[in-house]
Amino acid sequence: MSGRYDLKLLYSRDEIAATVRRLAGQISADYAGNDLLVIGVLKGAVVFMADLIREIDVPLEIDFIGLSSYGDGVTSCGKVKLTAYPTARIEGRHILVVEDIVDTGLCIEALLKFLAERRPASIKVCALMDKPARHQVPIDIAYSGFTVPDKFVVGYGLDFAQRYRHLPQIFTLEEAAGDGQAAADD
Ligand code: IMP
Repeated sequence: MSGRYDLKLLYSRDEIAATVRRLAGQISADYAGNDLLVIGVLKGAVVFMADLIREIDVPLEIDFIGLSSYGDGVTSCGKVKLTAYPTARIEGRHILVVEDIVDTGLCIEALLKFLAERRPASIKVCALMDKPARHQVPIDIAYSGFTVPDKFVVGYGLDFAQRYRHLPQIFTLEEAAGDGQAAADD
């Protein structure tokens, strides 16, 4: 993709909040009686994770893991690199990995391998969004928020060239028609 873009509203604040509550409810029920280690994938999952953990009512600790597979654009370079490591003990813990979006699945596959080698008691994935049409590897997403079309999305933590993470809604990035000044709906 190149040139100018328009942002088209995909999910409103209310739709996101309802989905976060639904996921947190499922997680709270499934982990009742257990402690959780919630590991967010930097940077995209930060906004989602902040909202999600405040709706979960089992005791939990948080940590982060950093991965990069994308440059400052919309195409994956196909390589996955760990850029930040969790500091919490992984061994013997119930781990919930919180991801913004599963696209090819290569990032989550790499970090699940990294975490599994540290012998957690269990490990599950919670992804706000999933693009099943783009998966290149099978990924078991225990808690999935929205199934999204094969489009690039931004906002609520997700970026395009490091922009738009702060937007409270989720938008698709559309090639602008005409002179196409980038503009946000809603
Ligand atoms: P995967 O390894 O291809 O599944 O890529 C997952 C990561 O790529 C996500 O955690 C995002 O950081 C980024 N990504 C994939 N699709 C999008 C998108 O539509 N918008 C913004 N970031 C995306």
